[in-house]
Parts: sequence; C-alpha cells; structure tokens
Amino acid sequence: MTQDELKRAVAQAAVAYVVENEIVGVGTGSTANFFIDELAKIKHKIKAAVASSEATAARLRSHGITVLDLNEVTSMPVYIDGADEITPQGAMIKGGGAALTREKIVASVAEKFICIADGSKLVDQLGRFPLPVEVIPMAHTVVARKLNAIGGEARLRLKDGQPLITDNGNMILDVHGLQIADPVGLEALINNIVGVVTVGLFARQGANVCLLGTETGVKTLQF
Ligand code: A5P
Repeated sequence: MTQDELKRAVAQAAVAYVVENEIVGVGTGSTANFFIDELAKIKHKIKAAVASSEATAARLRSHGITVLDLNEVTSMPVYIDGADEITPQGAMIKGGGAALTREKIVASVAEKFICIADGSKLVDQLGRFPLPVEVIPMAHTVVARKLNAIGGEARLRLKDGQPLITDNGNMILDVHGLQIADPVGLEALINNIVGVVTVGLFARQGANVCLLGTETGVKTLQF
C-alpha cells in the first residue's frame, strides 16, 4: 500500500469516532485532509467543525461544512489530527505543517485526541523528526540560542527563501538532533523559554487513541 492509501484508511477509520450532533475538532496536514474528505460524507450528522488552521478551515468550507470560531465552543468530544511522530505511550511531535499552536489549543478543548497516522510515524523515542517551535519573530535568534544550549540545533523554517509566517503571524524554529527521553519535561522546559509561543511536543496532553495505518490493516492503540 502507498502512504496515501494508509492515510486514507486511517481517515476512514476515524469517522467512527465522530460523535453525532456534536462539534468535531479537525487537525491540519495531509492525513487530516483525507479525514476532512471523509467527514464531508457524513456532514449532515455533525453540528459543525472547529479548524486548527486557515488551510483546514478553507477545506472544510469547500465541502460545505460549517466552521465555528473556537470562542463560540464550550465542548467538543473529539479532536482528530495527524502527527509527525508518536510513541507507544501516545506522546507526539506535531507542527510539520506549522499549525502546532492552533492544534494544541483546539485539542485542549476536546475530551479525546484521536491521532491518525501511517505506521511510519510510530517511534520508540521522539526526536528524529525536527521538533517545531513557534516563536515570536523578534525573539527567534534569542530562542534559537537557548534551544541550542539544551542540545539541539535550531533552524529557522523558510518558505520560498523567506521565514515562514504562521497563521498567527509568528515564525517556526525546527530543532534538529534532539533525543527526547522525557517528552513531558522537555515540553515544559521549552514552553518556559521567553519568546516561545508553543512547542510541538504533545506529551503532557498526548493522544488518547492512535489509529495507525499498517500493511495488515488499521491498528488501534489506546493510551
Ligand atoms: C501540522 O502542523 C502537523 O502537526 C501535522 O499534523 C503533522 O505534520 C502531520 O502531517 P501529515 O499528516 O501531513 O503527515
């Protein structure tokens, strides 16, 4: 199976976690895009969606799905999103699509985080995928020095030769070379650096369920 077929398979499996007549939180990225296309098939069964990025909001709307501002929402049974890496304990690296801050905010409102990923994302230890950190633009070199001091190599993410600007008007540092033995501790440490908006470690509040696409079918990991 191709990676896209595995992503489509987990996206289809995730539909079973959508609660009827409720609001669903929707992530960002290629796997989330497959999920949005599946959600469109049952859109009459949900109240609305909350999006974790402008790109996701646009794709949801293009399918005729109502997108609510998070400020209008008080409860959400599930948030469904991909990951760049996930451990057997449910800790994740996210932010390869630069949407980590909104993803973490929307996920924080949901009762359950359902991670959808192809099998290549499952790792014993996080860190091979460069850890994304969203930073306030005026602080990117200050924060980069501090991230380097904790053992990484922070590189400013570029797009078309210019610093990539997030939906929130900030920049992304990708931290290479970290071997993350204590994801909860590192999440707190990096979030405490002045100038950091959000670190793309989802460990203190990780996934509750991971639907993992493998050659032998979709495996369900519960955390
Ligand atoms: C977006 O910012 C990310 O957190 C994505 O969820 C993550 O990068 C996974 O993306 P893919 O589904 O495209 O691999």
